[in-house]
Amino acid sequence: MAIVIVRQDDKILLWKKALKQINPELQVYSFLEDHPINEIEVALVWKHPAGILSKYHNLKYIASSGAGVDFIFEDASVPKHLPITRVVDKMLANDMSEYIIAVIFNFLKNLNSYKLMQTKAIWSSKPYYRICDLKVGILGLGALGSVLAKDLVKFGFNTRGWSASQKNIDGIRSYAGKEQLSDFLAETQVLICLLPLTNKTKNILNKQLFKQLPKGAHIINAARGGHLVDAELIEMIDNGHLSGASLDVFHKEPLEPGHLFWAHEKINITPHCASVSDTDSVAPQIIENYYRMKKGLPLLYLVSKKEGY
Ligand code: GLV
Repeated sequence: MAIVIVRQDDKILLWKKALKQINPELQVYSFLEDHPINEIEVALVWKHPAGILSKYHNLKYIASSGAGVDFIFEDASVPKHLPITRVVDKMLANDMSEYIIAVIFNFLKNLNSYKLMQTKAIWSSKPYYRICDLKVGILGLGALGSVLAKDLVKFGFNTRGWSASQKNIDGIRSYAGKEQLSDFLAETQVLICLLPLTNKTKNILNKQLFKQLPKGAHIINAARGGHLVDAELIEMIDNGHLSGASLDVFHKEPLEPGHLFWAHEKINITPHCASVSDTDSVAPQIIENYYRMKKGLPLLYLVSKKEGY
């Protein structure tokens, strides 16, 4: 009757503290300390070492400590019958929305170009966009995308969204499925990717898709590096079709030292920091699910194995 935390960064103690603060009786272990393998019923994971979860024979489910679960599906050794849950959290969604809005305003007012010009002591002003000039499109209107969509509408952005199924969000034009992707892209000047990474969405940000955006479009990817075909992004920026990109996620993280993105003047990089689970905000839902499992109740935020999110 215990929880094991499995992750390779320095946040294990933080998660342990947040969970124990809610229930000091709870048995919570780091996977790095001595722990009773056969008593572990829940694995709270983030980018765990592949293969490690199969040693917990009495596991009842796997809880991702973030919104994404792609790293769990990527580990072929994870027992297929185990339910997987993900995080759905107001703070996580708000953080993402604030990040994307900051990036859009940065683009709108050319702030990165000015920073670059400052390093060369260049004094020269550029034409800028206004909110009313821009059509913004969000790929993915799930727990994160829908909050962003509502915030963008509050700011007055002309906002559209594309998702697997039609969504009903005030002020948003909703497009759904493959058939409506081209129409969605045709007028999108700032394209934001907040899709889950699945077999269907892998490499979705490719040359074919970029070509359908209006000339000068800007790409924002804060979902997963696996959505993007890196070389095709660079090609479409260098040939002038895209004006640039702002990327928070990469195929390999940290981004490799020699990667072409680092030195590209039209690509802005942040180190996967757009939105990170706050342990105090998320711990209550982890505990709630633990109690639900104990009582045989349905788990919250269960992932569909078929859809992959
Ligand atoms: C962050 O990338 C998350 O999936 O929560």
